[in-house]
Amino acid sequence: MKLPHRRFDCLVIGAGGGGLRAALQLAQADLHVAVVTKVFPTRSHTVAAQGGMNAALGNVTPDNWHWHMYDTVKGSDYLGDQDAIEYMCRAASRQVIELEHYGVPFTRLEDGHIYQRAFGGQSQNFGGDQASRTCAAADRTGHAILHALYQQNIRAKTHFFDEYFAVDLIRNEEGAALGAVVIEIETGEVMVIEAKTTLLATGGAGRIFRTSTNAMINTGDGMAMALRAGIPLEDMEFVQFHPTGIAGKGMLISEGVRGEGGYLVNGDGERFMERYAPHAKDLASRDVVSRAIAIEVREGRGCGENKDHVLLKVDHLGPDVIKKRLPAIREMAIRFGGVDPIESPIPVYPTAHYTMGGIPTNRYGQVVAPVGHGAEEEVVGLYAAGECACVSVHGANRLGGNSLLDIVVFGRAAGNHIIAYLKENRYHRPLANESVDMAVARLSKWERRGDGESVSAMLAELQLTMEEYCGVFRSQEVLDEGVSKVLALGERLDEARLSDHSKVFNTAFMEALELENLIDVATATVVSAAARTESRGAHSRLDYPDRNDAEWMRHSLYCKTDHQLDYKPVRTKPLTVDTFPPKKRVY
Ligand code: FUM
Repeated sequence: MKLPHRRFDCLVIGAGGGGLRAALQLAQADLHVAVVTKVFPTRSHTVAAQGGMNAALGNVTPDNWHWHMYDTVKGSDYLGDQDAIEYMCRAASRQVIELEHYGVPFTRLEDGHIYQRAFGGQSQNFGGDQASRTCAAADRTGHAILHALYQQNIRAKTHFFDEYFAVDLIRNEEGAALGAVVIEIETGEVMVIEAKTTLLATGGAGRIFRTSTNAMINTGDGMAMALRAGIPLEDMEFVQFHPTGIAGKGMLISEGVRGEGGYLVNGDGERFMERYAPHAKDLASRDVVSRAIAIEVREGRGCGENKDHVLLKVDHLGPDVIKKRLPAIREMAIRFGGVDPIESPIPVYPTAHYTMGGIPTNRYGQVVAPVGHGAEEEVVGLYAAGECACVSVHGANRLGGNSLLDIVVFGRAAGNHIIAYLKENRYHRPLANESVDMAVARLSKWERRGDGESVSAMLAELQLTMEEYCGVFRSQEVLDEGVSKVLALGERLDEARLSDHSKVFNTAFMEALELENLIDVATATVVSAAARTESRGAHSRLDYPDRNDAEWMRHSLYCKTDHQLDYKPVRTKPLTVDTFPPKKRVY
């Protein structure tokens, strides 16, 4: 079948902050760049980021990038790669100022400087007093950044394929990336986008869990595309549970609430974080606070009729602070939590929030894959940035405010590397028809489906399984059972059918493709978790409660073929400063 073809210098898949920041760099360099996005760009999940973006501007407390680097390495539970972390923390202040110039309306201090709030895991002077490092546009920072980047891309003439779904990467026999097969969601038309370079920026995979802060679109599409293209996923066992999701529903209540002075109380009215993190209290890092909440509830000190959540108290901040600094949080709490935080505390419980692992890259955004004997090589023409990538700056636990930073720093870095690469690689490589045919065959499999299980029922089962078998606390027995259940779901997928409205709406077809992606990513997550017999960052094992640096200071690499795991060392050497050696992590 002859498919429509388009050709570009660079294909960016995903229109969140990472994709748009890279696309902007490319379009401003007069390259021919296409962005494929399954939703209208300003609906990408970056829009939901609330609290802010870290940079050591020092506008509120003394600060410098080296302290930020220390906090990030410690926050990562020493699994983050210190060269990439140094690069990110050094770049942060310039990136904030650049965004300001692009039009991001940051909240201001009285003296006109950018407002910065306190966030978890931030310190002055390598573990001293609390720092205020998170640059905020009230509690809608991601929204402000995404809109500014979209507008700048329109101005720079980036070409957008809105509401197109990326199906699979095209790779030739040598492994070079040549673009992707995509579908226009409205018409169902399949198209080949050939590109000299391809950047995956498809965000995270929070929808593998039932309760999540993530939008419905966060189905790990780029990660699953990478797996199907033979590229492993790194550190997938590390999933961040944000401490303060609206109880029972999961929507995000920003850490910025605690940064502004809000605090958690249990069913006895006790400020329990004082017991778990005597120094940082409610602003300990997220893994610590999430575990504390789960323990309080498990030990019977929860709140409400079922004692199944804790409360986030905010009313003491007063209506002015709440309305000025936390307006969207107030709206969310009223709408989804049924309380007005000006008057009553918000019921909260940990909720799946962020995928620390992802497609392995170096700090230029180049995807790297193992080539045997412990060596790895860049995949020619393939890049990844943002939450779908693992660079790895977040290691085993990301600090709040470092994700908006990650997407702009590494989106830009990938853009710059692509510009340099294209100067040396000016022509398209011949298209690999076999790779295109494989993608099309995967699509046409779904057209022949009869009366099997429904996609939506299987999705619900997957999400519940992940929540029950791969949650905040883990153990071998439970994880092993989780692995069996997720693998069994993967096998049943061949018999699944599209939902009944599929003949009318292509969205049903997209849901099926998303389910395939989610199952691949969930399998990577639970298999990697079952293998890591230690507790580190967000991966908390009841049967292995301690961190084990001797055996486990290494990154996992999960391959789809036979669900194999491989490992590679952490890059502990920064670019210019001394290594931060692993220490006991206390807050
Ligand atoms: O809590 C928050 O506002 C989330 C921020 C983040 O995940 O970086």
